[in-house]
Amino acid sequence: MATWSAPGKVFLFGEHAVVYGKPGIAMAIKPRVFVTVRNTKRATRAKSPYIDSCFDAMGVVGSVYINSQIPSSSGLGSSAAVTVATLSAINDEFSLNRTREDIANMAFEIEKTVQKGRASPTDTTVSTYGGIVLISGGSRRRLPPQHMHLVIGDSLVSHNTSKMVEQVAEFKKKNPAIVDPVLDAIEGVSLSAIHHLNNPRELGKFMNMNNSLLEVLGVGHPQLSRLVLAARSAGAFGAKITGAGGGGSMIALCPKQLKHRVASAIEACDARAIVTGIDTEGVRKEKNV
Ligand code: PMV
Repeated sequence: MATWSAPGKVFLFGEHAVVYGKPGIAMAIKPRVFVTVRNTKRATRAKSPYIDSCFDAMGVVGSVYINSQIPSSSGLGSSAAVTVATLSAINDEFSLNRTREDIANMAFEIEKTVQKGRASPTDTTVSTYGGIVLISGGSRRRLPPQHMHLVIGDSLVSHNTSKMVEQVAEFKKKNPAIVDPVLDAIEGVSLSAIHHLNNPRELGKFMNMNNSLLEVLGVGHPQLSRLVLAARSAGAFGAKITGAGGGGSMIALCPKQLKHRVASAIEACDARAIVTGIDTEGVRKEKNV
């Protein structure tokens, strides 16, 4: 029996633009998914296509138990975390000697297949390696980890990442003269933000800019706007949609002493708040239970 865990993620900057080869900056966060795999002769078919694909990709059968602290469909990368942790647990339990790099690549292939081609390697990279990752075109680079006081606001409005990606693609096709400069501006924000990762006051301003640009792309939602404004009013340095938008989650970067006030302001808007920070560790082996 082998138990492995992998972290969730938030997009700090560049969601949607990353689909068009622009830079995206994402960070691993504390809620984790725990996966236990046991080498049994009979396979337990999981309800999740991600888990079934992991066993198929590794060419083995076994049973699996999942314990997730990450709410699903909230834009916090739960499917990537499940996939990365499951592949790693299978790798360990069946002594398959795959490297971390192999796991990250396989997990990305699985996400792409299950999500019918609509996935960037962001979630699977962050879940595998932890910390802060810059995705740009085909390349992935770890940025120096920074401690940040973040509050996530889960709007509890369900959304669909593929639908939002498609919606932006349609908008871009019909109005390239509007959308292309917005994507360029998001790139500008992300590239500037890289130099201020250790300065939360400045970084907050870039988050606010990124949020406005995401609104122009049409991925806002009234409830997300409410949470963003509530977080800023409660003293956050900055706040923005994180991930695909249209529902899902937002993030607020806060002064340490105000993070609970920001969380309460978010909860007062009928949303769920998670006070969190960076998880510098990616996928890891847990003690067998
Ligand atoms: O909602 P999430 O966390 O899956 O983020 C989607 C981010 C997009 O840039 C819209 C798509 C992608 O795969 O990068």
